[in-house]
Amino acid sequence: MKGSMDGLKVAGLGKRYGDVAAVADLSFEVRPGEIVGLLGPNGAGKTTTLHALAGLVHPTSGHAWLAGQPIEQQKALVGFVPEQPEVFPLLTVEEHLGFIARAYRLDSGWPEQARDILRRLHLDEVGDRVGGALSKGMKQKLLIACALLHRPLLLLVDEPMVGLDPAGQRELVDTLRAVRAGGAAVLLSTHILSSAEEICDRFVILHRGRLLAQGTLEEITAPAQSLNEAFLGLTEE
Ligand SMILES: Nc1ncnc2c1ncn2[C@@H]1O[C@H](COP(=O)(O)OP(=O)(O)OP(=O)(O)O)[C@@H](O)[C@H]1O
Ligand SMILES: [Mg+2]
Repeated sequence: MKGSMDGLKVAGLGKRYGDVAAVADLSFEVRPGEIVGLLGPNGAGKTTTLHALAGLVHPTSGHAWLAGQPIEQQKALVGFVPEQPEVFPLLTVEEHLGFIARAYRLDSGWPEQARDILRRLHLDEVGDRVGGALSKGMKQKLLIACALLHRPLLLLVDEPMVGLDPAGQRELVDTLRAVRAGGAAVLLSTHILSSAEEICDRFVILHRGRLLAQGTLEEITAPAQSLNEAFLGLTEE
């Protein structure tokens, strides 16, 4: 049964914008406790895929299930981090988390969970700083903290490394690993193949909205080939 498994299952997903098939007939899975990298050149359909799964755009075809239910019914179990980190300029870092806790009606244990997340992302030192006074990387990390607070079963992250300095990238990698260790499914898009290679268990490679390849590093690369070489070979015009 298509919807019976755990984790994320995507079947035949498609999204058209007029004549442009931004995503076409895309099928893949992300299991609990797995990080899958969604790779592809500019315009390949990565953001469209993440937006369709987050419920921000309506797919024109196909289905997706999370933990066995249609993903449209599982909003409370999805965390989403957009590519552009937009935060409330006048709310502090801690107030953002309080806002999320109320929006998701989290139980009284949330401040401890918030403290853990802020500590891991080294945002605890700026807990009382307002959003408008954060650097781009800090905003990015704040949105990641917000997306994790309600303990999603599926975390969708669009280009998380952009704007992060090397220490920020390291903190993000450690955080995503902790999310994976907690049993969530993580789907992240990125152009930074070295980070993808380091952190992802499997890859889904898109080109012009279509699936080119998917699998582990060993499955999608030839012997002695890097992810970078495989990616360029697959996506070459
Ligand atoms: N709102 C929209 N209206 C019309 N076309 C769109 C819209 N959003 C995306 N597209 C088109 O869909 C295709 C896929 O875009 P998408 O943003 O998903 O790619 P991407 O893989 O995220 O690219 P990038 O690496 O540049 O972020 C592109 O051809 C894009 O122009
Ligand atoms: Mg994109």
